[in-house]
Amino acid sequence: MFREQLARDARRIQEQFDLVLGAYDDLDVTRAMAYATEGGKRLRGFLVLESARLHGIDETSAIWPATAIEALHAYSLVHDDLPCMDDDDLRRGRPTVHVKWNEGVAVLAGDALQTLAFELCARPEVGPAEIRADLTLTLAQAAGAQGMVLGQALDIAAETAQRPLSLAEITRLQAGKTGALIEWSGCAGARLAGENPENMRQYSRALGLAFQIADDILDVEGDAEKAGKRLQKDAEAGKATFVSLLGLDAAKARAAELVDEACSALDSYGERAETLKEAARFVIARES
Ligand code: IPE
Ligand code: IPE
Ligand code: MG
Ligand code: MG
Ligand code: MG
Repeated sequence: MFREQLARDARRIQEQFDLVLGAYDDLDVTRAMAYATEGGKRLRGFLVLESARLHGIDETSAIWPATAIEALHAYSLVHDDLPCMDDDDLRRGRPTVHVKWNEGVAVLAGDALQTLAFELCARPEVGPAEIRADLTLTLAQAAGAQGMVLGQALDIAAETAQRPLSLAEITRLQAGKTGALIEWSGCAGARLAGENPENMRQYSRALGLAFQIADDILDVEGDAEKAGKRLQKDAEAGKATFVSLLGLDAAKARAAELVDEACSALDSYGERAETLKEAARFVIARES
């Protein structure tokens, strides 16, 4: 059920990108934006759409924030791959944007994908003005210097830190760099319905942390072909991860605990939350 739904949602999000970006002037920067949004699992967009379904929200409304979070995520990857960041030449099985075009195009495509995300959340089609304002405000908070950017900054700082980071420090780093956008995605359905997102927050916080631990495990023992990106780079770069601190076995055990935590947070939704529980189990079983 989850995998079929993820595939359907991924196709729907791609259609939305085609609609929005298809209207742009044909330039390197707009071609690069489209390129950067293609492929990928679309897990964040799925979380928006599935949490919206759980809260009785129509897809015609939820598709906008679902596409928005995938635009914001794509921007974060384009910049994450730049030579001044992780310096990667492969993403989703294809050359990274700065390799295919150049760094200037990659910076600008990332910038424009970020602003596009806010535009999509604020569009009238999403719903009442208060709901749109709430989604846009919280997305800005999740993406910025107290969210994803904070995590990325801590990630870079850790590469040259004098001492290894503690568990609490790594948790804070990962809650920012990966957790903040995933948390926003899981909460989006409740926000669209004007409901308190607390249960969804607990679910998606645990899910986000498990997701990044799985990414760090894949970096050590994943298959690069399946992952579509270069692996075995974190240790050499001096990245602070759960694996670097705890080792593989303890990191896997922690990820499994977090998935149980994520599932428990959904208990009050009953059987209707089964697809989201499956998503949590997928996050640590995935190969890409
Ligand atoms: C990769 O995210 C970057 C991290 C935050 C770990 P995903 O694994 O969701 O990448 P795509 O979107 O599926 O390519
Ligand atoms: C990327 O984390 C997080 C963001 C882009 C915000 P990583 O650097 O671990 O992601 P990969 O391994 O390059 O996909
Ligand atoms: Mg990185
Ligand atoms: Mg990276
Ligand atoms: Mg990684």
